[in-house]
Amino acid sequence: MSETLETKPEDEGKRDFIFLATGAAAAAGVASFTWPLVAQMGKAADTLAAGSIEIDLSKIAEGQQLKMLWRGKPIFVRHRTPAEIAEAEAVDVSILPDPETDDARLVPGPTGELNPAYLVMIGVCTHFGCVPVGEAGDYDGWYCPCHGSHYDTSGRIRKGPAPLNMTIPPYSYTSDNVIKVG
Ligand code: FES
Repeated sequence: MSETLETKPEDEGKRDFIFLATGAAAAAGVASFTWPLVAQMGKAADTLAAGSIEIDLSKIAEGQQLKMLWRGKPIFVRHRTPAEIAEAEAVDVSILPDPETDDARLVPGPTGELNPAYLVMIGVCTHFGCVPVGEAGDYDGWYCPCHGSHYDTSGRIRKGPAPLNMTIPPYSYTSDNVIKVG
């Protein structure tokens, strides 16, 4: 099943809110919580987050991050700035706890090219499942305040107890500006 969801980018004052579909149901999050709590947000949210979701990337301004629920898990879609992309690409992969290039964390668009501007991840810390805070931490990416894990601008673990990079969900481009997650 595929549902097209109306997406709204975050703004400065609502950075940690999760936007859900169509105005029928919207769930607000707080700075940090574990994803099982997200899964308990209610049947309407669960229903909307089931199956596949489509996300219009053109509605996310550079430097903003969209958060949505997919199968009970938060999905982060960050429109990275050129500086964030450069930072992600400049890392010596051999020093990483979970070595992965930035390119390996992207999915090709319709023409087969990678678009490093958009990073799509399951927004769950790989330590004990908290939801990391964006634009935070020592590596300008995400910070998990539960036990102090720092992720870089590619969502790769750089410091702290989390063992792995944040997971890339299954997704594909359905056009230049639209992705389908799931
Ligand atoms: S759950 Fe994120 S550091 Fe422990």
